[in-house]
Amino acid sequence: MAPPPSAPAHLKSIKIAIIGAGSVGTTTAYALLLSGLASDIVLIDIDKRRAEGEAMDMSHAAHFAQAKVRAGETYADCAGAAAVIITAGVNQKPGQTRMDLVKTNYALFRDVVPQVAAAAPDTILIVATNPVDVLTHAAHKFSGFPVERVIGSGTAMDTTRFRHELGRHYGVNPRNVHAAIIGEHGDSQLPVWSLATIAGMRLRDYCAQGGIEYDEAAMDACARRTRQAAYEIIQRKGKTNYGVASVLVSILEPIITNGDALVTVSRVGTFAGVEDVALSMPCKLNREGAHQLKVPLLLSKEEEEGLRKSALSIKEVIESV
Ligand code: LAC
Repeated sequence: MAPPPSAPAHLKSIKIAIIGAGSVGTTTAYALLLSGLASDIVLIDIDKRRAEGEAMDMSHAAHFAQAKVRAGETYADCAGAAAVIITAGVNQKPGQTRMDLVKTNYALFRDVVPQVAAAAPDTILIVATNPVDVLTHAAHKFSGFPVERVIGSGTAMDTTRFRHELGRHYGVNPRNVHAAIIGEHGDSQLPVWSLATIAGMRLRDYCAQGGIEYDEAAMDACARRTRQAAYEIIQRKGKTNYGVASVLVSILEPIITNGDALVTVSRVGTFAGVEDVALSMPCKLNREGAHQLKVPLLLSKEEEEGLRKSALSIKEVIESV
């Protein structure tokens, strides 16, 4: 297999640390290794031998990539990282919601995040551990970093699934479907139908132009499958890892390349009048982190109400831990 094009020279010295050598952390490390975005990938886990074994295994793929993969000894190994991805913690079991994980993972964040922040005070934290919105808020609190430098993968995962569902329904590549899921990465998430477009046309206009029936029930099914996707996957294989790992690399990409890309990620802020909460809205990502759009989304009244409900449900959990 020919090695992928080598990372552009300006990416040669990019270090990324990943906390947690479970399925999400290791799949992310592997996806990052093959992406060519980083030159030095450090995998840190409380089980050092596990991190060593994963790094050793991946280093045998490094021949086909342009990065070194190694196991870190302590959180001090995050020093100098352009970004630190936190995947550590317990994950959803069949029948559990993401919010059911909050007590265990919040306690882990209280311990880990200050150590990471001390080791890498200028880094960007990317939170993947669930419940990701509550833990993005916790990581902001425990790190003392500015809000821009604490990003949760949030509904970037759901937006990817939603575009996949709509692309499948309309027979177009998901890349050509512009649509977003905002709010909680969880049960109170909401699709922004008013802004969903294909070929620059809102879905109803696309259907009218093409003489296609706009099937409301089918659209609701797309949103439902998006919301239920993780549950369905976890019922079958006990976890999710590939989708979220690819999403984490897609969040890293504009940060590393200073790309100013718009991605729905979770960030602390005020949403629909609810203050000091973290949830996902389209943000501009670049090397300084995640910036809220200066141009607020043109949401319908129902969407604004749905966003407020989502913000209040996350805020309730934040105030309970
Ligand atoms: C999922 C996990 C990352 O939705 O919450 O796959």
